Formats: sequence, structure tokens, C-alpha cells
Amino acid sequence: MWGADLGHRIEGSGHCPPLAGGGIASRKADHVRINLEEDVGAKGVASGFEDYYFLHCALPELDLDQVDPSTELFGRRLAAPLLISCMVGGTEQAASINRLLAQVAQELGLAMGLGSGRILLERPSVLKTFDVRPVAPDILLFANLGAVQLNKGYGVEECRRLVDALGADALVLHLNALQEAVQPEGDTCFAGLLGKIGELCRRLEVPVIVKEVGWGIAPDVARSLAAAGVAAVDVAGAGGTSWTEVERRRISEPWRARVAAAFAGWGIPTAECVRHAVRAAPGIRIFASGGVRNGVDAAKAIALGAELVGIAGPFLRAAAAGREAARELGREFTETLRIAMFSLGARTLADLRFSPRLRRRDEDLGEPPIARLTYRTGGAGQFLDITDDVSAVVRSSGVRRGLVHVYSAHTTAAVRINENEQFLLQDFRRFLDRIAPAGAGAYEHDDIARRVDVPPDEPMNGHSHCQHLVLSSSETVPIVDGELELGRWQRIFLVELCAARERRVIVQVLGR
Ligand SMILES: Cc1cc2nc3c(=O)[nH]c(=O)nc-3n(C[C@H](O)[C@H](O)[C@H](O)COP(=O)(O)O)c2cc1C
Repeated sequence: MWGADLGHRIEGSGHCPPLAGGGIASRKADHVRINLEEDVGAKGVASGFEDYYFLHCALPELDLDQVDPSTELFGRRLAAPLLISCMVGGTEQAASINRLLAQVAQELGLAMGLGSGRILLERPSVLKTFDVRPVAPDILLFANLGAVQLNKGYGVEECRRLVDALGADALVLHLNALQEAVQPEGDTCFAGLLGKIGELCRRLEVPVIVKEVGWGIAPDVARSLAAAGVAAVDVAGAGGTSWTEVERRRISEPWRARVAAAFAGWGIPTAECVRHAVRAAPGIRIFASGGVRNGVDAAKAIALGAELVGIAGPFLRAAAAGREAARELGREFTETLRIAMFSLGARTLADLRFSPRLRRRDEDLGEPPIARLTYRTGGAGQFLDITDDVSAVVRSSGVRRGLVHVYSAHTTAAVRINENEQFLLQDFRRFLDRIAPAGAGAYEHDDIARRVDVPPDEPMNGHSHCQHLVLSSSETVPIVDGELELGRWQRIFLVELCAARERRVIVQVLGR
């Protein structure tokens, strides 16, 4: 439940007031104070940007001066695709934070979101604590409201009033079900919201954006929101500010605090949200926020497909340190993004979006190890047991769980799994001879005179090809705990069906 902020308590002693009778304003005061004084970062889950790296471009073939990270969104020009995410409003302190951040956004050409406007709808007198248009006439500005309020009597009229009062370019609805659920006093009536979001999208004059608050938006939810008509989804994924970690500090009952603590590692890493959302909801804009901590993270988010990148906690802390600190943070993000683009040879954001230079670390590690084994076979009917060789390839690959594919690159030498027992192998040879016996004149393939492009050493091997037809070129064996998972009697054979020849077997290991 977000609604207001008691700014003069921002430098408070760290004492958490009891919940009873605290009201929205005191709750918001706690939120800001806790964000500034405590470690509210997610634990055990990261933003996921660390799983990616860029293939540095040593020869970018452009001048740094040519790099242009500017963009246009909802009719506003941005110097960089960066958003100071929705945070505060409702009190004197919030007024100064909003004004300060809005001035920075205006100066640097960034977008900005305001905190939840519920308190403004309830108490219009707090307008001045949200109203940043006088100091930031040109910025892309978002109003904000908890989506759950659509289940509590607020509808299109109230949203329109909020947007109009703030001169906002779009309305952001936040989804914070988990935060509300861990608050003893939370609003947890989230049933039936999608239809109301859809109706709002149809009737409101400005674009509707839906965001999470730090646990991420999964692909199925992004798809549903796109179908409902939202203009954009801000995934607000895990890895940055954790709202259960914030709420935990406000809860007086130890068992309830432990419930909140259990969710410190909850949520979908932001990078993963973006990667999947752009595919799940291709018709809408995807914004990235949650644990974005520098301009390289922002560059990765854009390369994954995001059109706007939001930062909240770091800007709150910078604002608390003063206007110069907030301005420097904005500059730092913009300049890091610009230099990252330069180092990738990306002149514009269009060049950076979906850049093939973005790589996932585990995909590289996961490149399947391949071994090419060569054998000199002894002649037709030989069952060469290659199990130990395949096993050695698997061990050297380091793969603990997966599959190994053993493949013969020939049409007259097969790969089969069976038992290595000398009389049984004799039976196999007889079986193959019976189904396709060698014999002059029996196979059209051996009528060399009728064929074209026949090499001079072509063997009479029509029967070998026919035998191969009932065998196979390959076998696949599971790998469990780094070993071939073969049955007690199973061995892997290279089966020579033609003559003594050099044979190639490809062994490909897949897994982790
Ligand atoms: C002090 C504070 C207040 C916030 N208030 C709101 C809010 O009113 N509405 C909202 O949608 N998100 C709110 N957020 C969430 C942020 O917009 C953002 O989704 C989240 O903090 C993750 O970003 P971060 O890791 O960069 O902090 C708030 C965040 C902070 C730090």
C-alpha cells in the first residue's frame, strides 16, 4: 500500500512505529526511512544482468560523438531511455524529493514517474507534493496508482482526474500483490482486475502502463496485459529493492516478520522478465526496472528488447544526498550507456536493441562438446565396442546431467547398442547375412555400369547399405552424475557392414 510519505521523518531514529493507527502517511514514511537506512536489497536472487555480457567491439567504426542514445516515447523526446521510477508523493518531504528529481529529469532529458496518487485522490490538498510540471515542463511524466484500487471503488474518472491534475503523459498501474499480502493491513483483493485494467485502457485518453514493484512480470501475465490493451509493461523484476524486505522491518510480530523474510529471494530476475516479455507480448512496449544499477545494466536491458529502463532505489538515495548527487547519478547512467553503445559499435538505440553482441554466459559454457573418433575397422560383420571411448569423452566434457549422441558418419557402418557376447555377435552377423546377403547380381546398386560418377574403388556393397537400413546411424545415451547410464549388458558398437575401412564416429555431449 503506497500513498504518501512523511518526509520530515526521513532522518528518523530507525524506530518503527506500531501499525495500529499508523495510517497511509506513516506507512509511507516508514518505507522511505527504511529504504534509506536499511539493506532492502533482494537476497538470493539477482537482476540477471550479470548473466549477460557484451562481445566488445574493438573496431566500432564510429566516433563517440556520433553515438546518440536519444529516443521518443509517448510524444516526448528523451535524451536517453532512462526513467526515474515511481516513488513518492503526499508530504513535504516527498514534495522536495519529487521536485529535485524532476529538475534533474528536465535538465538531463530523462523520464520520471510519481509515487502512488491514491492520497492525492483522497486529499486534493496534497497536489503540490506531486506537482512537478512547473519545474519539469518537458519531461515524459507518469502518474501512478495501485491497480488494486480499481477493486476499491476507483475507476476511469479517478484515473483521469489524477492524470489531469499532474499533467502526466501516461498512467502507471502498479501490481504489488505480494507486498500487500505480507502487510497485516494490506489490500489483497486482486480478483477480477484484468477486466478492469482492460476497461481503463479502452476509456482513458492517455496510455496505460502496468508495472510490478520488484518481483517481475512473467510471460503469461505480459501476454494477458497486452491482450487487455496496455501500452507498455514495466517488468520491475527481482534483484533490486525487495518490498518484503522493506515490509519485514515494519512488522512487530516476529512470526509475521518471518513470513516476509521468506520472500527475500522471491521473484523473476529482471533480465529474464525482459527477455521473455518481448517475445510473449510483441505488440506492446516493454520497460525494464528492478535492480538496474548502472548504465551497462541499462544497455543490456535495451539489448534484450526494453524501450525504457527504470531506476528507483538509487535515485531515492541520491536525492537524499542532494540535488548534485542526483544529477551526477543521472549523468553517470547516461554516459555509461553512451560509452557502452560506442564500445559495441551501436550508433543509435535501434542498433543496440536486440544486438547480436549480447551474449548469455551459460550459453557459451553450454556449447556442446564434440569429439570426432576415428577407427580402422577389421572387415564386414565386425562389432567394434566403442563404449569406453564414448565414456571418456563424456567424462572429459564435465557434463553431469544430459545426453550423449553417438553418430556414425557413414551409410555402411552403423552405431548400435547391444550385448557384447561373442556367440550373440555371431548371431547378429548371421541375421544380417540372412536379411541382405552379399551376392553378385542381387543388388542394382552393384550394377556399376548403370551408375554415374562411380569412384574407381567402389566396392560391391548393395547388401551393406540394405543391412544398414535396419540398423541405424546413431544412438543416444543418458548421462547421470557424469557417467553413461547404460543397462548392465549394454555396450555401444560401431558395426562394420562393408569392409576394412577408416570410419568416423561423432560423439556430441549435451547437458550441464
Ligand atoms: C521509496 C520507494 C517508493 C516506491 N513507491 C512506489 C509507488 O508508489 N508506486 C510504484 O509503482 N512503485 C513504487 N516503488 C517501486 C519502484 O518504482 C521500483 O519498481 C522498485 O523499487 C524496483 O526498482 P529498484 O530496484 O531500482 O529500486 C517505490 C520504490 C521506492 C524505493
